[in-house]
Amino acid sequence: MIQLIRGFRDILPGDVGLWQHIERTAIDLFRAFGFHEIRIPIMEKTELFARSIGDTTDIVEKEMYTFPDRKGDLITLRPEATASIVRSYIQHKLYAQDPVRKFYMVGPMFRRERPQKGRYRQFYQIDVEIFGVMSPLADVQLIYLLHVLFDRLAVPDTQAHINSLGCPECRRGYRRVLVDYLNTVADRLCADCRRRKDTNPLRVLDCKVPRCREALTGAPSILDSLCDDCRQDFDTVQEHLTRLEIPYAVDERLVRGLDYYNRTTFEMQTGLLGAQSAVAGGGRYDGLIEMLGGPSLPATGFAIGLDRLVDVCGLEGSRYYKSPDLFIAALGEASQKLAFEWVCDLGIRGIQAEVDYQNRSLKSQMKQAGRHRARHALIVGDSELSQGTAILRDMTSKEQVDIPLDGIVDTLLQRLNEDK
Ligand code: HAM
Repeated sequence: MIQLIRGFRDILPGDVGLWQHIERTAIDLFRAFGFHEIRIPIMEKTELFARSIGDTTDIVEKEMYTFPDRKGDLITLRPEATASIVRSYIQHKLYAQDPVRKFYMVGPMFRRERPQKGRYRQFYQIDVEIFGVMSPLADVQLIYLLHVLFDRLAVPDTQAHINSLGCPECRRGYRRVLVDYLNTVADRLCADCRRRKDTNPLRVLDCKVPRCREALTGAPSILDSLCDDCRQDFDTVQEHLTRLEIPYAVDERLVRGLDYYNRTTFEMQTGLLGAQSAVAGGGRYDGLIEMLGGPSLPATGFAIGLDRLVDVCGLEGSRYYKSPDLFIAALGEASQKLAFEWVCDLGIRGIQAEVDYQNRSLKSQMKQAGRHRARHALIVGDSELSQGTAILRDMTSKEQVDIPLDGIVDTLLQRLNEDK
């Protein structure tokens, strides 16, 4: 048979309930803070990602699903959402009335990475962006939202890691001292890092190869290269994180895998996913809107890896699988006709009822009710019909009561709602 593409996966009905709960919890929180949903296309011109994420990043160099369309234009399945949201903000002049805009979006992203635990080629992000706010308090608010969300989802063992990448000015200075250092340890670096040291030296700090990590123990810290404004900005972030009692660690090696960042960057990291420690990541990218042809306006945001969040959240997935409120075991043609009408009537009033259409024995219908994990069963056959009643059975306590057929839908509605 034809199988899934490697690195892609199905999210099956038994798991989807938890995904939906997480999405709803996140969306409720973001809406309460004034964020609005934006929906962006799955594909964009390749150039959009190449220019914003950076030509020398892993994503653009080797992970994008890029192909020519029928006219030969290069298009790419989106590897992230930020570039598209910026493009949309510029294209529709969303800054014209008020440059301050707050967006969220939820959807699939595509990166052709080597699949492993917590790493997929199609994965899902919940992305959040604030445009037009220069104050570092916007960064603090984003980290606060992540902190609150993770708390609401009972995510254990995560911590905010923060760093500052400074402004282009301080980064130029840092780049120089870093390259000087990397040249002194070049023979101890992996082949990738020997190349990166000349193309994108900051990325070397992020290499997971043990010998590179060792070689970097004496590397200079970017925090020592910050100019006064960037230093003050980063101090403000820390002061407010402390005031909001959000635990965090300053991590001067946190450089992120996309080139558009400046000043504060952050990740929510977990010990639960092996090498894939980042459940969410983001930061400020003040130059991107202008770089893509818009006005000179600051921006900051983050994206949560939803697949990873589902894996590490402390909630029991089966709790979010909606099992039927009622299973109707109907015996005989007359009962089945009635049962079908009741199911329709209950369904439009929000009660999920199931019925077996195969005219099976009572025993096998009750087994089916158990398999469906229905909370109640309603038993109705010819003898019940002649008595004008049906039997309502609580599938957990096994208690049974007779209920009159007259007004049965209203009675069921009342009883099942009481039980919810
Ligand atoms: P990112 O760090 O590339 O940032 O991705 C954000 C999150 O997406 C990661 O922390 C991780 O949880 C998840 N993720 C990334 N790649 C994979 C994968 N292959 N499989 C599963 N999960 C993955 C961005 O994408 C930026 N656009 C975030 C941002 C928004 N910065 C500012 N605004």
